Amino acid sequence: MKRSIPELQHSAAPLVMVTAYDYPGGRHAEAASVDLILVGDSLGNVVLGYDSTAPVTLGDMIHHARAVRRGAPGTFMVVDLPFGTYHTGVQDAMRSAVRVIQETGADAIKMEGATPEILQVVQTLTRNGIPVMGHVGLMPQTATAQGGLRVQGKDDETARATLEGAVALEAAGAFSVVLEAIPARLANLISERLSVPTIGIGAGVGCDGQVLVTHDLLGVYEGEDKKIAKRYAEVGRLSREAIETYAAEVRARAFPTRENSFVMKDDVLGKLY
Ligand code: KIV
Repeated sequence: MKRSIPELQHSAAPLVMVTAYDYPGGRHAEAASVDLILVGDSLGNVVLGYDSTAPVTLGDMIHHARAVRRGAPGTFMVVDLPFGTYHTGVQDAMRSAVRVIQETGADAIKMEGATPEILQVVQTLTRNGIPVMGHVGLMPQTATAQGGLRVQGKDDETARATLEGAVALEAAGAFSVVLEAIPARLANLISERLSVPTIGIGAGVGCDGQVLVTHDLLGVYEGEDKKIAKRYAEVGRLSREAIETYAAEVRARAFPTRENSFVMKDDVLGKLY
């Protein structure tokens, strides 16, 4: 059964969140009883083949989130607002969030950052009944400005900015905050300071929950190992091997067999000659 925000916030066990981008992804996540599904804008990298999340549009997110919702009608679903859809003012952000909620059936939206502008957006959305998940640490949408896709919070300046950003997001009304690629001890400190749950990715075991990009945990891309992820399967290798076996059988006329073929009575066939 879908968990409510208070239930998520008072969970005794660590929260489990995975990303999903389509109907089968939603079905698998719901069948595995995860607590939350994130339709992340990592969509751009792992599904659409871009080399960053920046090109992902609101239309892309809505199209994919609708499919996830069809596969996972009973799971709390968070949808990322993509780059540029909440940076041009509170009204634009509100319009983007309303579209996501109305058109996808999302339970909450997620956005990156904790600048004064973003905090104002978080405050406005939450006051208007749209639950917001915050995101600090490494923020892929603006990674270029952060010096690339690198760990944040190792030095005084970024550690303080990450801590203060997370605290400010809670004060602005965020019901939970993602901590991405920060040292485990900083994530522990933030998790102690916040009363809303932290969800870590590359932030150690002390967070209140964990999120992984499903394509990383399933091993969809062979030979790609990320420090922040763990492979629980080798779906990429299994997929390639299955297609190779199919190709070999087609070339050897070993597929289709009689079992895969339809039969016809001799007299009907005879009439065709
Ligand atoms: O887009 C995404 O998948 C994310 C997670 C990595 C937290 O933001």
